[in-house]
Amino acid sequence: MRVLITGAAGGVSRLLVPQLAEHHRLRLTDVRPPPYPIDGTETAEAEVLLGDLADPAVAARLCDDVDAIVHLAGNPRPGDGWDLLRGPNVDAVTTIFDGASQAGVARIVLASSVHAMGGHYWRADEPGGPPVQDDQAPHPCCRYGATKVFAEAAARVYADAYPLSVVCLRLGGCLPAPPHRGWLDTWLGVTDLGQAVRRALQADIRFGTYTITSANPRQVFDLSAARNDLGYAPTETSVACADGLPDGPSTMCRPQMRDRR
Ligand SMILES: NC(=O)c1ccc[n+]([C@@H]2O[C@H](COP(=O)([O-])OP(=O)(O)OC[C@H]3O[C@@H](n4cnc5c(N)ncnc54)[C@H](O)[C@@H]3O)[C@@H](O)[C@H]2O)c1
Repeated sequence: MRVLITGAAGGVSRLLVPQLAEHHRLRLTDVRPPPYPIDGTETAEAEVLLGDLADPAVAARLCDDVDAIVHLAGNPRPGDGWDLLRGPNVDAVTTIFDGASQAGVARIVLASSVHAMGGHYWRADEPGGPPVQDDQAPHPCCRYGATKVFAEAAARVYADAYPLSVVCLRLGGCLPAPPHRGWLDTWLGVTDLGQAVRRALQADIRFGTYTITSANPRQVFDLSAARNDLGYAPTETSVACADGLPDGPSTMCRPQMRDRR
């Protein structure tokens, strides 16, 4: 399968590309040069094309002659405002979906985020609170989360209107190890990231949204949908890295409650 990876110079891509290069022919793209070859991909066949995805002509060129897209390009910073989020997380989503649907791409795996459901997190975090399910209505905790809900909604529109299937992965915080205790609930290990994306590329699904974290001790986000539909079976857990970790704030944003008068 020929797979386009957008956001290929970013942090998640660097962790993912070596795992996909074993199985697929890759086309890598970003506005800035990706550090290719990435460790472990030296012998893999990969093509690198630079450009701004928000430009429809660039998106069309990138989507030509690929079977699937792993769409990672975006602004991953939950504290940012609309001015910084709109281009990468809204405009570039619409152009890549237009390009993909016009080029006849069969599958998009979209990097969404647990922040799309972050508003539910705080209730689930209370003692006895039920875990957050993927079939609950989206409830973002921040503007960034709202852009991910937009991307999921756009994905639904295209999956309905075109022979294009989309698997949205609500990724937890992905690093080789959690940097502090605030990451323990939502951490996503590198091997689990690779497994989830590989399964999302292959699964027999028209459209779906799935939370993807490792098998962490407090499963605030329920992974049942990903386990059932994708066959996702996480093999990593943040408990293995927890000893000696410093305290730190949760990775989830606390919704700001305004005076509603
Ligand atoms: N990092 C995480 O743990 C995490 C967790 C959940 C979801 N995500 C999502 O995963 C994706 C990747 O995250 P990341 O941490 O690698 O981010 P990153 O900022 O490290 O990489 C994103 C890349 O996208 C590129 N990009 C942005 N706009 C572009 C455009 N218009 N055209 C071409 N390239 C563009 C940037 O140049 C950058 O290299 C994002 O969509 C993010 O929201 C990340």
